[in-house]
Amino acid sequence: MPLKQLAPGEMTADDLRDWCSVLNDMTAADMPAEPRWRTDRLRDYLTGSLPDDRRFLFMDRDADGDLVGHASLILFGGEQGGTGVVEMSTRPSARGKGVGSRLLRAVAECAKANGCRTLAVEVIATTPAVGFYDRHGFSRNVVEQRHLLRWSDIDWEKIEHAAGRLAAGYRLEYHAGGIPDRLMDSYADVKANLRSSPGNVAFVPEWRGSAYAPALRDSFQTLARRGMRSHIAVAIAEPFGNVVGLTELVVSAQRPTRADQYDTVVAPQHRSYGLAMTMKARLLTELRRAEPQLVDVQTWTLETADDVRWINAELGFVHDVDWYDYQADVDKLLARLSRKP
Ligand SMILES: CC(C)(COP(=O)(O)OP(=O)(O)OC[C@H]1O[C@@H](n2cnc3c(N)ncnc32)[C@H](O)[C@@H]1OP(=O)(O)O)[C@@H](O)C(=O)NCCC(=O)NCCS
Repeated sequence: MPLKQLAPGEMTADDLRDWCSVLNDMTAADMPAEPRWRTDRLRDYLTGSLPDDRRFLFMDRDADGDLVGHASLILFGGEQGGTGVVEMSTRPSARGKGVGSRLLRAVAECAKANGCRTLAVEVIATTPAVGFYDRHGFSRNVVEQRHLLRWSDIDWEKIEHAAGRLAAGYRLEYHAGGIPDRLMDSYADVKANLRSSPGNVAFVPEWRGSAYAPALRDSFQTLARRGMRSHIAVAIAEPFGNVVGLTELVVSAQRPTRADQYDTVVAPQHRSYGLAMTMKARLLTELRRAEPQLVDVQTWTLETADDVRWINAELGFVHDVDWYDYQADVDKLLARLSRKP
């Protein structure tokens, strides 16, 4: 059987090298301006997951043993149980021959066998994956705009100025790798706003584990285990010392020139004081020192999130491409796949 499901610990050094080469062939064909992948801590990246989540990996090799495609499936536990996230790639030279469909069927069968009802996938709007998931009956749930901030374009004088403008009664702290225990509860409280009011300052799809407040500590530890360095700025209200705003960013060992700006959120009663702008600017100044190899920062926002779009534009972020969040019902997907030859 060329298509194989692997247990996390089962990947060999050759598997990791091949996995990385498919990712880089795919990147060169579909998104040539994107940074390339490295094998650094790739095993950790592919196998690490939150304690309640489960991960499955699939590799499809041709008759010569060459890897033609691979897929990863994360099945969420806890509150988000029943949902799985898929990532898959076919090597460009092997596309249009059913590799993608074969991988999708294996993923859907695994999802079904493990009690998963919905599969989600993120797709870059300009790539062939859009046609593929449309063809397989996935529905487009949300469109997010990807914005890029190029390090070489940053106006550091402006950023330093923005980082220093802080409303009276607040202070900022910067933390790398996680946040101290003394801040954990109020941090989780602020983060919970992302779930109740998407689009206010940032948008987070429900299945993104990092917005799951009770599992915060696990989520930072999991990022670290996967080779992803977290950088966090928090706004703290005096005199109580509780977190009222936060912004998180991650730099991965597998693509260290690219930073991913994750969540930014300010508690509702502390909005309109410029905290989000100050936190994001401060984080950039810290990154300049902590991650000197960076080439760019990417972030995603909804078209309707005017406040965060304004802040990002002020910092120098530019919209370059849309990302689609697709979803499919597992039973319907399997029924559709089984009707095909
Ligand atoms: C998406 C991807 C995995 C498809 O792989 P593939 O091996 O070429 O897919 P298949 O050959 O199995 O195609 C399956 C069906 O989708 C259709 N399809 C594939 N690419 C398509 C495209 N660009 N436009 C329209 N339809 C497309 C095929 O025509 C086929 O339909 P059919 O069964 O009626 O013949 C591949 O293009 C890829 O690796 N893309 C980059 C990675 C990526 O962006 N992944 C998405 C995020 S996880």
